[in-house]
Amino acid sequence: MPQRDDPHVGVPRHVAIIMDGNGRWAGQRGMPRTFGHHKGVEAVRRIVRHAGERSIRTLTLFAFSRENWGRPKSEISELMSILRRFIRSDLGELVEAGVNIRVIGCRDELDPDLLQMIEDAEQRTRHNTRLRLVLAFNYGGRDEIVRAARRMAEAAASGELDPATIDEACFASYLDTGAWGDPDLVIRTSGEKRISNFLLWQSAYAEYVFPAVLWPDFGEDEFDKALAEYAKRERRFGTVPESIVES
Ligand code: IPE
Ligand code: IPE
Ligand code: MG
Repeated sequence: MPQRDDPHVGVPRHVAIIMDGNGRWAGQRGMPRTFGHHKGVEAVRRIVRHAGERSIRTLTLFAFSRENWGRPKSEISELMSILRRFIRSDLGELVEAGVNIRVIGCRDELDPDLLQMIEDAEQRTRHNTRLRLVLAFNYGGRDEIVRAARRMAEAAASGELDPATIDEACFASYLDTGAWGDPDLVIRTSGEKRISNFLLWQSAYAEYVFPAVLWPDFGEDEFDKALAEYAKRERRFGTVPESIVES
């Protein structure tokens, strides 16, 4: 158990962010939505840096949902290009900064060249331990659960997995997040209060914070405010606090 004088008390180990509001940010300036996505990349850089400074172990960023394929073709192709450009321009620095890059989501639907870049980024940063940066790209929570169930069914059919041994821990190990697990804190910017198919299984006991600020305006101070809010929360996991346990 963490002690009161432990500097990490109240600091979430895993923060996950639904980066929302790019389109509205651009619209407010009379600019196309893609302008907001470009600005959003600067916020990503700020928050990755800051998360490392705040001793966050894992930072998950929701960058593209499977449902986002329903957007105009031009916007989708720009979002794909933005990821390509981000990897190209920032990978060297992330390697140097000790960031371990992981990507979650359905890979089968991505262009082979983008997939190759993602695999290369994961490979080049695999020994890094300062911060795990998880990009949720072409990610949907239900899709992830279905893919996990399919792989388990395949393993059971081939005799590798005994169905009787399937429990929550076993199931979780088949999810894309199997190697690191659940977020402690989920932040969604832009004032929307919904989870939009993000980390459905993993967020069972996460704390949520919904800052009104649009993603391109999300900075270090806003991140710190969310951390301060988290530190005030009492996580119960279905139990009662020790202070009121009746003997
Ligand atoms: C979030 O901003 C980025 C992605 C979903 C890729 P939006 O593009 O959803 O911006 P709004 O919600 O329309 O303002
Ligand atoms: C969720 O935001 C997906 C990402 C941030 C990548 P959306 O803007 O797509 O979600 P909805 O459509 O408002 O629920
Ligand atoms: Mg949105």
